Amino acid sequence: MKKSFLIVAEGIDGAGKSTQLKQTAETLTASGREVVLLREPTNGTWGKKIRRVLIEGRDGISPEEELSWFNNDRREDVELNIQPALDRQAIVLIDRYYYSTAAYQGALGFDPQVICRENETFAPIPDLVLMFCIDPEAGLKRIAQSRDGFSSFEKLDYLKQVQAIFDAFEGPHIKRIDAGRDSETVQRDVLACVTQLLKSGEKP
Ligand code: TYD
Repeated sequence: MKKSFLIVAEGIDGAGKSTQLKQTAETLTASGREVVLLREPTNGTWGKKIRRVLIEGRDGISPEEELSWFNNDRREDVELNIQPALDRQAIVLIDRYYYSTAAYQGALGFDPQVICRENETFAPIPDLVLMFCIDPEAGLKRIAQSRDGFSSFEKLDYLKQVQAIFDAFEGPHIKRIDAGRDSETVQRDVLACVTQLLKSGEKP
């Protein structure tokens, strides 16, 4: 019986991933499972460098450097957090993973498939990718309502390119969620996908 699961939330800014994942973590924890909720970029060495770029802008760093920082951050996350949690049979929920690198850094000109393949040499392949889909305009509007100011990545034209790459991913483990609906309805869909995955793990 499979006990450890890796579930990731992906999608453009303003899709509501963090709120949805937090609620999912609470529900799973209440059912008695060990849940580890993570997010990328992390708060580690590389994550801190990345957050500076999000605040100050991309001037002064090359696309290659930016890509390597996200990949290095993930390597650290796999080693320190993700793999140890999977090894002790926990359910790992991550707010963003390598599909974000493929989409956001892919939109800078790198091949998204190459980014995925490179990541899969060191990062465990998720059991479920919850792909939160929202119109980029609507996503930005939500951000504007929820906090002051945008990060240097939260620009309409860029997010449209990022969204197009997210839209092109396919595979049986990718479940698309219409994130434009109210939060309760979205959470119902998320829990349905997660429950189905956990049930499939109960089969011998
Ligand atoms: P975000 O999830 O918004 O972080 P937080 O809510 O904790 O501030 O992620 C920050 C930004 O980083 C977001 O615009 C997406 C971007 N990003 C990449 O460009 N590549 C990546 O590999 C990851 C994980 C995130």
